[in-house]
Amino acid sequence: MLMKRSASAAMLISSLETNQITVDQLALSTISALRQYSNRELRNRAIDVLGRPTERGVVVGEYLSRMPSPSQLMSSATTLESGKLLVDQNCAVCHSPQNDRPAIGPPLENLKHWTLQQWVTAVMNPNQTVDTQYLQTIVLSKSGEVFTGVKIAESKNDITLAKSDGSRIAIPKAEISEQKTSKLSLMPEGFEDKLAPEQLATLIAYLRSR
Ligand code: HEC
Repeated sequence: MLMKRSASAAMLISSLETNQITVDQLALSTISALRQYSNRELRNRAIDVLGRPTERGVVVGEYLSRMPSPSQLMSSATTLESGKLLVDQNCAVCHSPQNDRPAIGPPLENLKHWTLQQWVTAVMNPNQTVDTQYLQTIVLSKSGEVFTGVKIAESKNDITLAKSDGSRIAIPKAEISEQKTSKLSLMPEGFEDKLAPEQLATLIAYLRSR
């Protein structure tokens, strides 16, 4: 909500600067949207307070070297249960159907043949390879609001975006002043802020068991 207008995005950045809120209270998609905010002054302030993101290849390498091997964890039922919980908390909003609505992201079943490297890369470096259907569209409305999400439908009168929180929004074409496709996946970067190496191994062990 706050990201939709630059005045309220500026308030959000001020609250971070004055420690009224902390970075871990923000969704990864909000953090990454702040770092790329269209207004340069706000973008620079956001980068000052949030820091620059670590280069993705470095994160992938670190996780590969610090993770216990998921095949070692695989056998235990507790591992699979914790893995499922981590997926529910971090991934299900996009990768599982929600309230009868189809999932926004691709299914994560039947990927047993994937190597650990493929898994870690997919989670920590989602923008390395993105199918164009999952690139985000950014819409600026005539009243100055910004909407970001994957375009899932377009009719004569409106377009529908699926947003990173799993919600859908239909925007009347008559209200759109500008529309562009971003180079970024709807899947956010920065899962290293939410998942420690053991947690990622647990999560992958669960996903590989399906
Ligand atoms: C905000 C939505 C969103 C969240 C949250 C999300 N993903 Fe994704 N994910 C996507 C989208 C969209 C794609 C397809 C585009 C891409 O590859 O980036 C994708 C792709 C993937 C792929 C590649 C699948 C393939 O067949 O190529 C994997 C693996 C994956 N996600 C795992 C995860 C895991 C594990 C989590 C939780 C830690 C997660 N994702 C959280 C949206 C999301």
